Amino acid sequence: MNGKKVFEEMTPYKPGKQTAEVMKEYGLTKIVKLASNENPFGYSEKVKEAIPSLATDFEIYPDGYTTELRKVLATNLQVDKDQLVFGCGSDEVVDIICRTYLEEGSNTIIANPTFPQYKHNALIQGATVKEIPLLNGYHDLQGMLDAIDNQTKIVWLCTPNNPTGCLINEESLTLFMDECPSDVLVVVDEAYYEYVTTENAPDSIKALDKYSNLIVLRTFSKAYGLAGLRIGYGVANEKITTLLNITRGPFNTTSVAQGAAIVALEDTDFLSYSLKETAKNKQTFMNFLDELELEYYDSETNFVFVKLPISGDALFEHLLSKGYIIRSGEALGHPNGVRITIGKKEDMEQLQELIQAFLISVLEGKQS
Ligand SMILES: Cc1ncc(COP(=O)(O)O)c(C=O)c1O
Repeated sequence: MNGKKVFEEMTPYKPGKQTAEVMKEYGLTKIVKLASNENPFGYSEKVKEAIPSLATDFEIYPDGYTTELRKVLATNLQVDKDQLVFGCGSDEVVDIICRTYLEEGSNTIIANPTFPQYKHNALIQGATVKEIPLLNGYHDLQGMLDAIDNQTKIVWLCTPNNPTGCLINEESLTLFMDECPSDVLVVVDEAYYEYVTTENAPDSIKALDKYSNLIVLRTFSKAYGLAGLRIGYGVANEKITTLLNITRGPFNTTSVAQGAAIVALEDTDFLSYSLKETAKNKQTFMNFLDELELEYYDSETNFVFVKLPISGDALFEHLLSKGYIIRSGEALGHPNGVRITIGKKEDMEQLQELIQAFLISVLEGKQS
């Protein structure tokens, strides 16, 4: 039984290696996963404590309106409750947006490389995807504007961008929004929002008051450490969220995820702790890269994309055999690079030693 024609050229998402699989393959007792930009500090102890009381009444469907979490977030973000739409991770919100706005004959504009789910979901809806190469890790915003035509429905701005980590600053975003036609939806995906430290970051939620064609995506998967519970959200004007709420499944986030997200938002100490540790360890890692004269993209996230004098796959394979899972740039359109999530201090120290020793051995081998 064939699916839509577009599936002939698509494959299912290939998840990274599973920890147990790698341990068995290499006879290791410990694995450090630095491949998916998860939070190495875990998640709030308060969430852990709350889970038993949330894990009840499984025979009942969850609250399809996400009432309590909606109230808390609307207050925190100072938006109207109906400006929010929730998803099984922001992944699902991306899918819902594509199902709502894209169809055959329409097109959508993304950066290249960027988060792959924009393209994946757009193709399934039969849309054409226009990919505009990044400029040294940053979105080519003028290039994206130039690519807009009468059939363009959505422009995706992943900021900070995955996999490069580069942020679109306030001035650039404003200029872009001012130029972008108001009937083109602009998705500002801020999955790494909490990690941003630069002063000229845009206030995208405030920008919603000015631009009716803007939607901001955020998630509990990264800084809040709740990737396994699958909950993320979009914020936009009500005309947009009404359509998205028509498209989404009625019970698309679980009661446990909704409750845990509320507790996670309340525990600002955990959030500050993990942001502070990540920032420190990232700085140490960048100093290490500077010492080795390795280039990397500007990063406003919990990961760094390192440009290498060798293939990303070679370093990936070597580190895998030592128990460190990172992301090779091969699959991300950047064969001579790797994306590394910032981990705990002790793990980063060992990782740095391994990287240095491997690069020296490979480069010396090349010279001799
Ligand atoms: C830029 C970006 N957007 C969205 C997501 C999806 O996150 P989730 O579905 O876990 O909320 C990710 C995950 O890696 C991401 O990097």
